[in-house]
Amino acid sequence: MACCGNGGALEKTASKTIEAKEIVEKVGKEPEYAIPLLQEIQKRHSYLPQDLVEAVSAEAGIPVANLYGVATFYSQFRFKPQGKYLIRVCHGTACHVAGSDIISAVIAQELGIEEGETTADALFSFEKVACLGCCALAPVVMIGDKIYAKLTSSKIKAVIKEYKNGKT
Ligand code: FES
Repeated sequence: MACCGNGGALEKTASKTIEAKEIVEKVGKEPEYAIPLLQEIQKRHSYLPQDLVEAVSAEAGIPVANLYGVATFYSQFRFKPQGKYLIRVCHGTACHVAGSDIISAVIAQELGIEEGETTADALFSFEKVACLGCCALAPVVMIGDKIYAKLTSSKIKAVIKEYKNGKT
């Protein structure tokens, strides 16, 4: 019996094509929709999966190089899957003065990753961001949609421990 053995790959391609159609129908297909198209992809997947970007490119008739040109220009877009918990460390002026460098160093040490990386167990991603809009509470870290304020080395260690233990 003949078997091509790539049924899974074909199914995956078909599902990406269907999803790309949905995205383009929802957002639009003119070149000026490049940013909203990429935002919609990222909203669904938390990053830009290459196969879906290519499928959207084909569906919208926008060259894939143009989509990647836009995506690499804006820091909001991610090219790798994100961990379950995204840790955003504020490095705005107030937080910087209040010690955000130390907070970032502690996070990097506790998780064994650098900024922009994801832990091997896919639990945490860590990034530095500009002002989170609550400067009076500096230094501030946001994990998911929760804000952690007036942090110290020991406080952020305790917070990370809680997430590792699933107590959040
Ligand atoms: S500088 Fe960190 S919240 Fe504004």
